[in-house]
Amino acid sequence: MGGTSSEREVSLASGRNIAEALKSLGKYDVLPVVLDSDNLDPMPRDVDAVYIALHGGWGENGGVQAELDKLRIPYTGPGVMASKIAMDKIKTKMVLEMKGVPTAKWSLASPGTESSPLPLPVVVKPPCDGSSVGISKVSTADGWKPALDAALAAQNGVGEVLVEEFIPGREMTVGVIDGEALPVIEIVAKGGWYGYDEKYNSNETKYPFLDDGKLADTLRKTAIDAYNAVGCRGVTRVDFRVSPLGRVYVLELNTSPGFTSHSLVPKAGMKTGLSFAGVCDRILQAADFDR
Ligand SMILES: Nc1ncnc2c1ncn2[C@@H]1O[C@H](COP(=O)(O)OP(=O)(O)OP(=O)(O)O)[C@@H](O)[C@H]1O
Ligand SMILES: [Mg+2]
Repeated sequence: MGGTSSEREVSLASGRNIAEALKSLGKYDVLPVVLDSDNLDPMPRDVDAVYIALHGGWGENGGVQAELDKLRIPYTGPGVMASKIAMDKIKTKMVLEMKGVPTAKWSLASPGTESSPLPLPVVVKPPCDGSSVGISKVSTADGWKPALDAALAAQNGVGEVLVEEFIPGREMTVGVIDGEALPVIEIVAKGGWYGYDEKYNSNETKYPFLDDGKLADTLRKTAIDAYNAVGCRGVTRVDFRVSPLGRVYVLELNTSPGFTSHSLVPKAGMKTGLSFAGVCDRILQAADFDR
């Protein structure tokens, strides 16, 4: 837990919860390890498995996963390749499209792109940042330049950014553990936009379960398709937009989803009858390394 990304504090909360939970099961010797830099120096080598509670950066982009592969220590969540793909929204879109998993129409823009390459409204985002930093919706031609600049600013003004068709409607998330989809949770943000403030600073975002039915079935099946397309294993959270006509679009995959007391994967896991510790246990039992 911990690490150097902007999500360090969330990771510390996730890690403490998971460690407590696993201890409470009485069948594991649990050693919490806090990382302050991007290497495994503080971690003993004689462990049976590593529960990765890092979010963002080296802890989620294949970095720590590659180190653990070298050590041949099983770890939770996807391996190197899937982590790398999921961390990069452009790579994710390419893979999803190739495998026929529905995702919003997209294009690329770079410094100097004069106008939106797709019909407005669009969403402009840096491919590799998290937590909605640098993401904005463009509804009018005037909005293009500030949105492009904001997305580029999140990556030092260079490289390519993702331009996506804006999908009106609802937002949903589906946790997948070991290839099995959990119950669907809807994200109801005030104003319909789940940006940084709605994620971390608002008490007005609500997270109701979606009732069983055709839409829930489609979302769960599509979540598994996305998980398989990217080559995930263990735990991953798949985020969706659902249009007013009921069409589903995969937004992104999170290969190290939050595990704080109000995080969505544990909440969905607990809906199936497991305890918080039971959800952690299932994820730990699926730990593996790339061969
Ligand atoms: N194509 C889109 N249509 C409608 N809304 C969108 C679209 N893309 C993003 N959004 C809104 O912006 C929010 C953040 O976008 P996204 O999930 O792609 O990035 P992120 O949350 O910053 O990434 P990460 O989960 O890695 O932190 C979404 O939750 C959604 O509310
Ligand atoms: Mg997101």
